[in-house]
Amino acid sequence: MKRIGLLTSGGDAPGMNAAIRAVVRSGIYFGMEVYGIERGYAGLIEDTVVPMEMRSVSNIVQAGGTKLRTARCLEMLTVEGQKKAVDTLEKHGIEGLVVIGGDGSFRGAKVLSEKYGVPTIGIPGTIDNDLEYTDYTLGFDTAVNTCLDIINKLRDTMTSHERVSVVEVMGRHCGDIALYSGIASGAEIIVVPEIAFSMDEIVTRINRSRANGKHSNIIVVAEGVMGADDFAKQLQAFTTHSVRPTCIGHVQRGGSPSMADRMLAAQFGNKAVRLLNDGIGNRVVGIRDNKIIDMDIIEAVSMKKRFNYELYETLQMISM
Ligand code: F6P
Repeated sequence: MKRIGLLTSGGDAPGMNAAIRAVVRSGIYFGMEVYGIERGYAGLIEDTVVPMEMRSVSNIVQAGGTKLRTARCLEMLTVEGQKKAVDTLEKHGIEGLVVIGGDGSFRGAKVLSEKYGVPTIGIPGTIDNDLEYTDYTLGFDTAVNTCLDIINKLRDTMTSHERVSVVEVMGRHCGDIALYSGIASGAEIIVVPEIAFSMDEIVTRINRSRANGKHSNIIVVAEGVMGADDFAKQLQAFTTHSVRPTCIGHVQRGGSPSMADRMLAAQFGNKAVRLLNDGIGNRVVGIRDNKIIDMDIIEAVSMKKRFNYELYETLQMISM
């Protein structure tokens, strides 16, 4: 393969730039020409294609966001849009494509490979950690660390005022950001879409912790359950402790990637290009049991994300 393309799609995630760098540099290592497609699938449809050189990815390993910019592209769901995307690839002689993005982006990649025969490799780039085939997605670690930083600060003021903090985190339909940031911050309670909750039970846990000498409580609520404002209002009707809502929001999508995300980015990007260089397409890369893996893209997108109930129980046992 002599010429490959690269795009970032869907919600951005810390580490996307480091992955772009790894793809470009690995491609150049193998003697390929690498083209960046700006604004994800929208750019592929509109033909915003730029050649990437060794130096076009200098000084971005530490940068949040994505240098190629990104978009959510509904047109890619239409046959017309898909044909325009394929025309752009043909026009530029791009023989293989690397797509960095989440679930929705992988569906676009699946169509390109399955229906139009474009060898495509998916790199899981999303803070949500909602893909079953990989233990971690790129950006999840940094996003959770950002949430931890904020929850640490909330704990300070909540303890001073003996309050209950309801902190809303992202994750779409997946509770992983809430689960990991809840455990790692010492939150007493997490509320996730995967597990039904009852306000009575939450109030019981709050009261028990207060009776045990705690002066504050942190409740991490995944956005897939409800917003912090609504949750806090509902909870306040059940308790005399003062409740305050905080929505972390898009702050958790930005910032310099953590070491873990930079390592994933380097390995995912490099593996993606190695596969294309071997003439292999229609795969996604990931990490399982600490090993970089690849698997069939169709199989990967059909897998249903499973929630880690054991980790949830761990939180229940140690946070009180
Ligand atoms: O998929 C990443 C994500 O940040 C989700 O956690 C969240 O639900 C969504 O994107 C927000 O999307 P937008 O930035 O388009 O509002």
